[in-house]
Amino acid sequence: HQSLPAGYICRPLQVDDFNRGVLDVLSVLTQVGGTTKQDFEARFNEMLAIKNTYFIVVFVNKNDRVIAVGSVIMEKKFIRSCGTIGHIEDIAVAKSEQGKSIGKKLIDVLTHIGEQQGAYKVILDCSDSNVKFYERCGYKLECNMMAIRF
Ligand code: ACO
Repeated sequence: HQSLPAGYICRPLQVDDFNRGVLDVLSVLTQVGGTTKQDFEARFNEMLAIKNTYFIVVFVNKNDRVIAVGSVIMEKKFIRSCGTIGHIEDIAVAKSEQGKSIGKKLIDVLTHIGEQQGAYKVILDCSDSNVKFYERCGYKLECNMMAIRF
């Protein structure tokens, strides 16, 4: 693996990453809405309370700002001998940091966490425009995603 730029680190999300711009990074993915610091902390603690389920990883630059974020969520099942699936969700790399292999490193880390946590597969939904990116990360196009919105 190619290493991260000097001074960059990869670590689990911390509750004080609200102050390091994690929501600004997520805004490259979709609308973040009016999530306040209080909302963020409450949701963070909710996720933490459900043990071994939400694995949220950030990349932080040498100025201590979050520049990438992504999650793998472990879903427990009855099928496959009570197997577990990892779902990769909410992947975002700050605009100024895109195209430097950071997204690929993020997916590698999340995939590894999913495997280490016992998943028999890790899956994700993405737009057609991101298929190539995920293929670069070792994923294969398998089926259609459907949604009903409220
Ligand atoms: N089309 C074709 N190839 C691509 C694309 C693309 N849209 N994006 C990246 N690649 C290729 C790169 O050229 C590179 O190829 P290489 O291995 O030949 O060098 C490889 O994929 C890895 O690219 P990275 O530099 O690691 O990608 P980056 O750091 O820019 O991250 C990402 C990609 C996450 C899609 C980023 O551009 C981003 O945050 N986009 C906006 C938000 C978004 O779409 N997130 C994903 C939503 S899907 C989900 O969350 C499950």
